[in-house]
Amino acid sequence: MSIGTIMVIGAGQMGRGIVQVAAEAGKQVRWMDISSAMLGKGIAYLDQQLERSVAKGIRNQDDKSAILSQVQLTASLQEASECELVIEAIAENMSVKQALFRELDEVCTEGTILATNTSSLPITEIAAVTSRASHVIGMHFMNPVPVMRLVEVIRGLETTQTVYDSIVQLSLELGKTPVEVQDFPGFVSNRILMPMINEAVFTVYEGVATAEAVDTVMKLGMRHPMGPLELADLIGLDTCLAIMDILYEGFKDSKYRPCPLLRKYVKAGRLGRKSGQGFYTYT
Ligand code: NAI
Repeated sequence: MSIGTIMVIGAGQMGRGIVQVAAEAGKQVRWMDISSAMLGKGIAYLDQQLERSVAKGIRNQDDKSAILSQVQLTASLQEASECELVIEAIAENMSVKQALFRELDEVCTEGTILATNTSSLPITEIAAVTSRASHVIGMHFMNPVPVMRLVEVIRGLETTQTVYDSIVQLSLELGKTPVEVQDFPGFVSNRILMPMINEAVFTVYEGVATAEAVDTVMKLGMRHPMGPLELADLIGLDTCLAIMDILYEGFKDSKYRPCPLLRKYVKAGRLGRKSGQGFYTYT
């Protein structure tokens, strides 16, 4: 059965993209964030994205208005009870996510599916704090969501086949290619990507090369569309550090040790594009 109503929680870079693709696919979306300022920025961003598509002739003003009218902002988690699916895209932190899932479990009706866009945290552990582990699943979009076609779909230990099938179908309806991945730290994408980014940070930390030089080597030498440090700035250095910590903690293997320079930047508030400075400066 096709999912028609979705609550997206989080209005950061991932939440924005998820709301956009869901509304463009004709879904009714409730959008919640603890910060009303982030929600305000999020809806302005969506308006701007749609306006661009009008300017390019991809859609007209009526289409744009119709899409915007499908998105309702809310400050109340209670409204999740009116949705068939909740997609969580808040901070990459187990206790913060578990607290939210506990609350969602209380307000949602029995059949509501709770999906997390976590980059690396175990789905089974998030599901364990709810009374509906069968209805908790990982739906990991890539950044930027409207552009990237992959969705990693991760079952927790108890996730049912019906819930898995619904998320696969929804991913297809959103124009994405779902790939099944098992529930291990970092899944596939970040288990491979993050150690590369971390190693790039180590090369800067050890004075092997500048950030620009590292990125140039990877772009011109390996045909990567973005250098690893540009990509780290796009993802958010706080998110990169959180993922490395989760890999390190989850596998207890020193090969995942986060680079001290990454931690230092995060402590200094240099989070990448979202804070205006990371390995590069953004105006
Ligand atoms: P972000 O830092 O841009 O946005 C997070 C948003 O969540 C903020 O607007 C914040 O106000 C809100 N928030 C925090 N706690 C909340 C709560 N309890 N209730 C409601 N809203 C709350 O983060 P971003 O980059 O959008 O990441 C979100 C999730 O998506 C994380 O789990 C991250 O690992 C994952 N992810 C991130 C990717 C990336 O490239 N940044 C890629 C794929 C997944």
